[in-house]
Amino acid sequence: MSTKVVAVVGATGVVGRQMLETLEARNFPLSRLVPLASERSRGKTVSFKGETIPVEVLSENSFEGIDIALFSAGGGTSKKYAPLAAASGAVVIDNSSAFRMDPDVPLVVPEVNAHALKNHKGIIANPNCSTTQMVVVLKPLHDAARIRRIVVSTYQAVSGAGIAAITELQEQSRALLAGEPYAPKVFPHQIAFNCLPQIPQSDAFLDNGYTSEEMKMVHETRKILGDDSIAVTATTVRVPVLNGHSESVNVQTEKKLTAAEARALLSKAPGVVVQDDPQHQIYPLAVNSTGKFDTFVGRIRDDISHESALDMWIVSDNLLKGAALNTVQIAEELL
Ligand code: A2P
Repeated sequence: MSTKVVAVVGATGVVGRQMLETLEARNFPLSRLVPLASERSRGKTVSFKGETIPVEVLSENSFEGIDIALFSAGGGTSKKYAPLAAASGAVVIDNSSAFRMDPDVPLVVPEVNAHALKNHKGIIANPNCSTTQMVVVLKPLHDAARIRRIVVSTYQAVSGAGIAAITELQEQSRALLAGEPYAPKVFPHQIAFNCLPQIPQSDAFLDNGYTSEEMKMVHETRKILGDDSIAVTATTVRVPVLNGHSESVNVQTEKKLTAAEARALLSKAPGVVVQDDPQHQIYPLAVNSTGKFDTFVGRIRDDISHESALDMWIVSDNLLKGAALNTVQIAEELL
């Protein structure tokens, strides 16, 4: 297998660092790593495979000689630099939402639709974190019984909003426990000891009353599963969890699928681990998912309110399967 020159754009961020760790953990065949970030990171270094590598400041000339560019530096950076990277011959795998719904850009979760990669034109999109962990679990159920409607509520960790958001939850929790005030800076309201039905933090709400995160789940789920007829409604909520997104998912299918049948299908699904022994209080937990490559599903049960629907609880590390791992898995598929 040939080795690749890999650039990570946003290498100093929460997801970028996970990309470096994931490339290292999976022994990705690379000949050189080029960590890129903003002017703010001039003079910083990252460590990779025991080496200290200087961070380079992203510019229009950053992509000469790069084979694969993993982007996680926000939509604005992707919009400007991903086409430049692709034009200089790199394959871009972009973690932002900039290109996800572009009909010319494959939106890929390798366990679900790796086949979509063959049509790429230099840019491949990595889905929204909440969508990725959900479709990994739903794909085998869709294949077996054809999903007609999904009702999902998310319980999303602060790590998905970056380093400043993690710091805010930690510092605000400490301050409030000490009886001191702590004004929110990243989130629109207090996140410690609270739940916020708004993701993202700013410009979230659309004319239809949904947030942009909720509508990402609607559109991206359909694109990845390749079925625009699936009805999806989502409520996305930020919770005071450091890392690991949880989701309550109700799935209505055309063909009746029992909880036992779903459990059997999911126990064979790639990237999925069934943790479903409620009598012994075994079910997926955000704190246990951190650092894991798998997506966990449990509390699988027949919906008592509908003759052909299931309820379940899906948990995964939002920085890994929801972001860095899926990006690296796409790169592995390209090899
Ligand atoms: P920097 O650390 O230099 O600001 P997070 O979301 O965890 O805060 O991380 C965002 C990542 O994206 C960081 O690595 C950040 O670099 C990078 N980034 C943000 N804006 C730009 C930009 N305009 N050009 C290059 N990198 C950027």
